[in-house]
Amino acid sequence: MAPPNALSVLETLQDRWITCIAVLILAGIAYQKFRPGMWNIPGPFEASISPWWKYRMVKTGQMAPTQMKQHEKYGPLVRIGPTHVSVNDVNEVPNIYGRANGFVKGDFYSVLQLELDGKTMEAAFTTKNATLHKRWQKQTGPGFALTSLLAMEPLVDMATNHFIKVFEERFAAKDAIADFAHYLNYFAYDVISNITFGEMLGMVENGGDVGNTARSVDAYLEYGAPTGQVPFLHWLRRTSTLARWWNKSPSHVEMDPVTSLTLKIIAENEKKEKKDVPWLTFSDRIFQQRDADPESIRPDEVIMHLAGQVAAGGDSTSVSMASIFYHLLKTPRTYKKLCAEVRNPIYTGKNISYATGKKMEYLQACIKEGMRLHPAVGLILERLVPKGGRMICGHFFPEGTTVGINPWVMHYNKDVYGEDVNEFRPERWLEASPEKLREMNNGFLSFGHGMQICAGRNISQMEMTKMIPDFLRYFDLELAYPEREWEKSAMWIVKPHKFFVKCKKIAKSE
Ligand code: HEM
Repeated sequence: MAPPNALSVLETLQDRWITCIAVLILAGIAYQKFRPGMWNIPGPFEASISPWWKYRMVKTGQMAPTQMKQHEKYGPLVRIGPTHVSVNDVNEVPNIYGRANGFVKGDFYSVLQLELDGKTMEAAFTTKNATLHKRWQKQTGPGFALTSLLAMEPLVDMATNHFIKVFEERFAAKDAIADFAHYLNYFAYDVISNITFGEMLGMVENGGDVGNTARSVDAYLEYGAPTGQVPFLHWLRRTSTLARWWNKSPSHVEMDPVTSLTLKIIAENEKKEKKDVPWLTFSDRIFQQRDADPESIRPDEVIMHLAGQVAAGGDSTSVSMASIFYHLLKTPRTYKKLCAEVRNPIYTGKNISYATGKKMEYLQACIKEGMRLHPAVGLILERLVPKGGRMICGHFFPEGTTVGINPWVMHYNKDVYGEDVNEFRPERWLEASPEKLREMNNGFLSFGHGMQICAGRNISQMEMTKMIPDFLRYFDLELAYPEREWEKSAMWIVKPHKFFVKCKKIAKSE
């Protein structure tokens, strides 16, 4: 028989093009499904063959609850993408996030990079580069140090006292219902802008967003969280002719208000007389460092740190505070116990100091428990398996596999936190043996863990430790609709809504 020539092969393919496409699709599916190291990890079939399952889950705000159910069904390892694995084992936390283990951030974070003057701006939060990360930690270290934070306490007091005054006039005096989740959000933005720049944005006063700041952070995450599941989409949008012609990437567009605000405040700060005040803001510390050694920090790094701080410190802190208040009110026993602690007459003076609040045992347990039941971040904290591959939960994963733990999954792990994981029971943090407490702390991922743990965690801890007792020393708080549950929407941050309260004044504010 004569060998088929190229023309006859083409003719045959043309005749059977549907079969050819079907074969190619099946080969693609088989390739994804049976990737080395991945083929026997359980999970939804759709997730094993394409990243669109992840995209859909994030886009519809269903990732955290779905993953919680899947880990119950499949065990500690669940395949959530062709090369993505969700892990639920407290012993793997130090292995994946530990300082010296070589795991770097996954591709998801590259979608969250900002741009300045058309150039991509990496940041400590998004980078895979250990050298850059170290450089930035050095630059911001003095601002985040505990001594600096303590000197910033008056800036938190200022915002708290204003918040209390507004609540007294706007809600307590009129017996009106307050949208607490939203007001706590305005408060957190006012605090972080005061700590960063020495100026409150004025959201509490306004009873709403100012300069589109909060909205722009939401929009940035509404774009970044789903797109980060399929980073190719971001590349496509950035490199498409239309995007080039427009000269802007989506994340740049979304974050414009925050970078513009930062640029404006930096420019104003340069002109300002040095104020005669007893504190230094975070930006003061950065400017001091730059003035002492201009080589140590570039102008774009200054902008990146300051804009990043405003973006990182608003929603994350307010969501955590909302969870603490909400669960206290839903569990009246704990609310009464906390009130008894913070209203003890030994605490005099207008504001509780951070040092005093840290010693309030039950308050600290309530903060921890509120952040356990409702961690701010609702997606896995992605990391890439380093060179040579690694064993995780007794399974070998090749280099480049994306692994990570979703704080929501870990925080509801019964082996770590007990059979009553769904309950708000602050006592669990006080009763645990030292060994158990170590395990519970290892599993506590609200601020992440290890090498790239949240840099601003002490700021938020201070804010919550001071504001919660101050507020409860002035007001009695109750749910406006005790029979209703709050609602949540999720992208990267799981945000609460419809948390309505009433408050009654029990002490006088100034
Ligand atoms: C309760 C409030 C907060 C929560 C729940 C929170 C949560 C987190 C989490 C989970 C991470 C790690 C993300 C990962 O591993 O992928 C992180 C990183 C980070 N956070 Fe926060 N955050 C909070 C407040 C703040 C504040 C107030 C600031 C700034 C003042 C801040 C700045 C940062 C920075 C710069 C990083 C990156 C750290 C690094 O990679 O070195 N955060 N945060």
